[in-house]
Amino acid sequence: MNLLGNVRFDFNQNANSIDEIRDYVQEKGELSYFVHSYGCQQNVSDSERICGVFELLGLTHTLNMENSDFIIFNTCGVRHTANERVWSHIGALKDLKQSKNVIIGVCGCMVQQKGIAEQLGVRFPFLDLIFGTNLIHQLPEFLKEVLLERKRVIVTQATDEIVEKLPIKRGLNIRCLVPVMYGCDNFCSYCVVPYVRGKERSRVPENVIAEVKKGLQEGFKEILLLGQNVNSYGKGLPSQINFAKLLLAINKLPGEFRVRFLTSHPKDCSSELVAVVAQSKKICKQFHLPVQSGSNKVLKLMNRGYTSEEYLELIAHIREQIPGVTIGSDIIAGFPGETEEDFLETLELIKRVKFDQLFTFIYSPREGTRAAQMPDIVPRAEKKVWFKQLLSIQNEVYDEQNSKRIGEKKVVLPEQVTESSGKFTLWGKCDGGLGVEFAGTEALLGEFVTIVIETATRRNLIGVKI
Ligand code: 5AD
Ligand code: SF4
Repeated sequence: MNLLGNVRFDFNQNANSIDEIRDYVQEKGELSYFVHSYGCQQNVSDSERICGVFELLGLTHTLNMENSDFIIFNTCGVRHTANERVWSHIGALKDLKQSKNVIIGVCGCMVQQKGIAEQLGVRFPFLDLIFGTNLIHQLPEFLKEVLLERKRVIVTQATDEIVEKLPIKRGLNIRCLVPVMYGCDNFCSYCVVPYVRGKERSRVPENVIAEVKKGLQEGFKEILLLGQNVNSYGKGLPSQINFAKLLLAINKLPGEFRVRFLTSHPKDCSSELVAVVAQSKKICKQFHLPVQSGSNKVLKLMNRGYTSEEYLELIAHIREQIPGVTIGSDIIAGFPGETEEDFLETLELIKRVKFDQLFTFIYSPREGTRAAQMPDIVPRAEKKVWFKQLLSIQNEVYDEQNSKRIGEKKVVLPEQVTESSGKFTLWGKCDGGLGVEFAGTEALLGEFVTIVIETATRRNLIGVKI
């Protein structure tokens, strides 16, 4: 079916290449695969589909990279540091490749950046497979070439396809990641995502809901809906759907579960969505609304499409409609053209909003983006000073906000357990997405429990089960 320029089709589980690889794997005896994800939850979700394809081909998942027969690094290209890490991790595989017959592949956002696939191929001749984003459905064909035809495969062609019915091997025990849309059309001037993940395209609601239902049947208690800009979900689809309506439909599904979503763009956050979150029991009272800067001049240079006043109005509206809501954000310090006065406006905004969660980054020029062409005269050392100021102000905010939470009751879904001298500590998130620690038994993993908060660190609230 061809919908408004986006090609949609179902993954063909009966393709010839799948049978051929299965036969090969069976002949070889047990073959294992290892997949490592860098970056965001969308990448983690892609990796779950990569793992799904490997399982379909008859391979076994392993967490032990050194002993595996296939290694895949699913990379991130959003900031320079992420790229650097990937380059050094790939370099470190050289000895392993020399010592045993392991197939090594690199995929994802970094590979999709201009010229990078070629550079990887030259610098690391031992890489067998290099492929960009949106090509997971072709993995069996790539592997057929690598395994059966002994070819080296490098593919980065961009596609705007949505491929449904890919097999999935879920990697998380509590949280079921469900993409609602792919790509991004916003072209924030610093961001590489629209170039590496392609045009914005939404999955049809029937497919999203079917995946959610399946996750619930499999026992997942938390659904995390994913998209670079979930608030523009539905644009380009033939039915009258938007993200608020999709949430309403998911909220109606039977069962005890909760729903989160990432990421919201402030310019597209509608009052309809806020009202739906306010009234829907299963939708977590949490918004992640990256502000990026408190200076209108910088926001304009970033092409964000809102002013700091509009952002503050939105936050005030959300807090009025949803008492107790938690609000998270992202900030970039040291954007090209940002002066100290601009930066101080960001600090002011942080003090005013008092975010419950804040992710902070030093600006990282990405080749091909508009910001990379802008004059950038503030030295990195100074940007680091700004960054430290940002952290210290936010730490004060955390301390202040967390101290107010002492005595509050939180419903927590424990997802991790640690043991020390026979005592078990559970960790999970409350409805608002804050980390909560408490003493308990392993049996509570995946069960909703009510916790009274007694104390807090900067990262976590600590309480007791009632
Ligand atoms: N430099 C620094 N931070 C960036 N982000 C995206 N691109 C860049 C960049 N070039 C940050 C933004 C975004 C988050 C996912 O990563 O804050 O919201
Ligand atoms: Fe990047 Fe902006 Fe799209 Fe987010 S909304 S992925 S920051 S271009």
